[in-house]
Amino acid sequence: ATILVLNGPNLGRLGTREPDVYGSATLDDLRAVLAEDAGDDTVDLRQTDDEGQLLRWLHEAADTGAPVILNAGAWTHYSFALRDAVSLVTSAGGVVVEVHLSNPHAREEFRHTSVITAVSTGVIAGFGFESYRLALAFIRRNAR
Ligand code: DQA
Repeated sequence: ATILVLNGPNLGRLGTREPDVYGSATLDDLRAVLAEDAGDDTVDLRQTDDEGQLLRWLHEAADTGAPVILNAGAWTHYSFALRDAVSLVTSAGGVVVEVHLSNPHAREEFRHTSVITAVSTGVIAGFGFESYRLALAFIRRNAR
C-alpha cells in the first residue's frame, strides 16, 4: 500500500538549514532511506511551504485511507486548521503519526506545545531520520 510522508514548512531546506539541529542530510536522502525500509509498500514523500496544500493532502488521506507520517514543522505549534485536518483523518479511523527530527521539548518554549498531538495516533520526536523510520515500522506492522 502507499504510505504518505508529509512535510511542512522549511523542511525542503534540510541539509543546509541549521545543520547543528537538523543534520546535514537532505529530504532526498530521507526519501531514499524510507524507500529502503518500505519493502512491498510505497512511500510517497512530499514537502510543502503552503499550508493549504498540506490540508489538501490530509483530505486526500482521509479519502484514500492512506496512513500518514506527518512532520508539520512550525505549523505543529499553532495551526488549528492543521489540527482539524488531522482530526478528520484520525476520527474516521485513519492513522497519522506526528514526527519531529529534533526534540521540541528540549528547545524553545513555543515548541513545547503541539496542537496536533491530541488528535494524532502517536508522536515520535528527537531521533532525526530515525523518527520517520520508527513511524514507518509502526505503520507497516500495525496500520495497513
Ligand atoms: C520540527 C520541529 C519544529 O519546532 C520546527 O518548527 C521544524 C522542525 C522537527 O522536525 O524537529 O520546522 O518539526
